[in-house]
Amino acid sequence: MVVWITGASDGIGAALVKEFAKADYSVVLSARRESQLRQVAVDARLNDDKCMILPLDLEYTEDIQKNVEKIVGRFGRIDVLLLNAGISQKGMAENTLESVERSIMEVNYFANTRIVKAVLPHMKAAGGGKIVVVSSIIGKFGGPFLSTYSASKHALVGYFESLRYEVNADKISVLIVTPGFIRTGIAKKAVTEDGSAFNEDSKAQEKGTEPEKVAAKIRKALEGGRKHLYVGGPETFTPMFKFVFPGLFYKIWKKLHKL
Ligand SMILES: NC(=O)c1ccc[n+]([C@@H]2O[C@H](COP(=O)([O-])OP(=O)(O)OC[C@H]3O[C@@H](n4cnc5c(N)ncnc54)[C@H](OP(=O)(O)O)[C@@H]3O)[C@@H](O)[C@H]2O)c1
Repeated sequence: MVVWITGASDGIGAALVKEFAKADYSVVLSARRESQLRQVAVDARLNDDKCMILPLDLEYTEDIQKNVEKIVGRFGRIDVLLLNAGISQKGMAENTLESVERSIMEVNYFANTRIVKAVLPHMKAAGGGKIVVVSSIIGKFGGPFLSTYSASKHALVGYFESLRYEVNADKISVLIVTPGFIRTGIAKKAVTEDGSAFNEDSKAQEKGTEPEKVAAKIRKALEGGRKHLYVGGPETFTPMFKFVFPGLFYKIWKKLHKL
């Protein structure tokens, strides 16, 4: 089985590489930092014949078709497409440059739809496949200073829920993953209003669930044919809490953020 993992150089993606390597998948690793991808492959003990390093900047995916052909040329198929890469945000909506908004939407949303369209014909020709997309609990409600990030994750949910119906007859499944707070460096790397890195740690992520646990749950959900996976701590109940007690939810959320 062949899995292509985006955002494989760090955090949840790096843990996913190890998880799928353990389960004897051939793994294609993509992100911008090639040397970091190579290190992740070494740490995952991936043999050369089961590993392909495919550096990609998801902000510029015009030639994505060529990259998909490279994978199919090497392994003959893509059984699992795991769309995990993403960037977070820290900034007031009013002050965020449009160029920053567009770059977040490009990486978190449009790169994924472009990749899907390039991979689907190969999955159909192979008689099926599995698509996994990593959203966020912030794809279920908004959060202060996260406007474009939240919008990009809401967009993913809408797109992939719709796609699921369209590819069902082709034996292609879609799993939407909704993580809560996961212990990675995503918050520190978040882009601010002018596009520079936020560069501060986040307590929520520091105390969050380990990426290895998340990766194991994602593989189990994928192999079990699940459509949705909420993964993390008690914060994963917040979408349901908001649905049942919207008034109380907004009050608590405002208080938590001192607004
Ligand atoms: N951590 C959390 O609490 C949390 C919660 C909810 C959802 N999520 C979602 O989980 C996914 C993984 O996040 P993470 O926490 O593991 O973050 P992370 O540790 O910062 O990893 C992000 C990955 O995305 C890649 N990436 C970023 N920009 C890219 C670009 N322009 N082109 C190609 N690759 C790019 C990074 O690699 P390079 O820098 O090498 O390109 C890295 O491998 C994201 O979609 C995130 O939104 C995370």
